[in-house]
Amino acid sequence: MSTLKLDGVVAGYGQGDILRGVSLEVEAGSVMCVIGPNGAGKSTILRAVSGLLRPRAGSIAVDGQPIASLKPREVLSRGIVHVPQERSLFPQMTVWENVLLGAHVLGDRARARRRIEEVAERFPILRERRNAHAGSLSGGEQKTVELARALMLDPKLIMLDEPSMGLDPKARQRVFTTIRGLNETGLTVLLVEQNARAGLEIADEGAVMDGGVVKLRARGRELLDDPRVGALYLGAPITPREAAPEPTR
Ligand SMILES: Nc1ncnc2c1ncn2[C@@H]1O[C@H](COP(=O)(O)OP(=O)(O)OP(=O)(O)O)[C@@H](O)[C@H]1O
Ligand SMILES: [Mg+2]
Repeated sequence: MSTLKLDGVVAGYGQGDILRGVSLEVEAGSVMCVIGPNGAGKSTILRAVSGLLRPRAGSIAVDGQPIASLKPREVLSRGIVHVPQERSLFPQMTVWENVLLGAHVLGDRARARRRIEEVAERFPILRERRNAHAGSLSGGEQKTVELARALMLDPKLIMLDEPSMGLDPKARQRVFTTIRGLNETGLTVLLVEQNARAGLEIADEGAVMDGGVVKLRARGRELLDDPRVGALYLGAPITPREAAPEPTR
């Protein structure tokens, strides 16, 4: 069964439509990577799923249950978490306090304290930098803390909006390794990535968004090898010895 299914989703801010009929399925246990140019509507998809934006038409369902009319807090309680594109930690609070906030909606402090110990097993930085202000951490460290915070509710689906943005190559690699590791523990991942090559490499499936719709959808590997994708979104032909043909319009 599919964990997340969007069907003909139309949504936008104010009057205009940004999503113009998005259909997308993310299978339980898989990694789906959405790529596409700036402004295509990638982040808007994640906002619609997480309840920050209500679709004007179409449906969003998790395990067959409609969620499009739920409030963000209710979506969270269905096991869906969203790590936004912009930095989202409270810089003046400590690392530990920030992560504890991830379980705030539970309203159960004892449970949150037990859970953070489990999460800290996977992310040693939580103990190492426990009392540091989140704002004093490097970009890569902050992203790790954001991921840890998202895991506090033990979600089944995690949506990551450009987690590698602004990171140096090493930190970027660590983020992708972490994502793959999370997926191996059974977590379903919906990843939005400008760093299309690295994102598609860890993905089971990929989707190319453009102009508010999904233009192409295929196995991650197939998209990587697709010359249209290579020319348009990956900056260079995938196979160095073989020039990609001109993109067809
Ligand atoms: N809060 C908002 N109010 C009005 N328009 C918005 C808002 N957020 C985004 N938009 C517009 O919606 C369109 C799609 O934005 P979105 O953030 O989904 O794109 P994206 O594919 O994530 O792009 P990027 O790669 O730059 O992150 C853009 O034209 C953007 O200007
Ligand atoms: Mg975006």
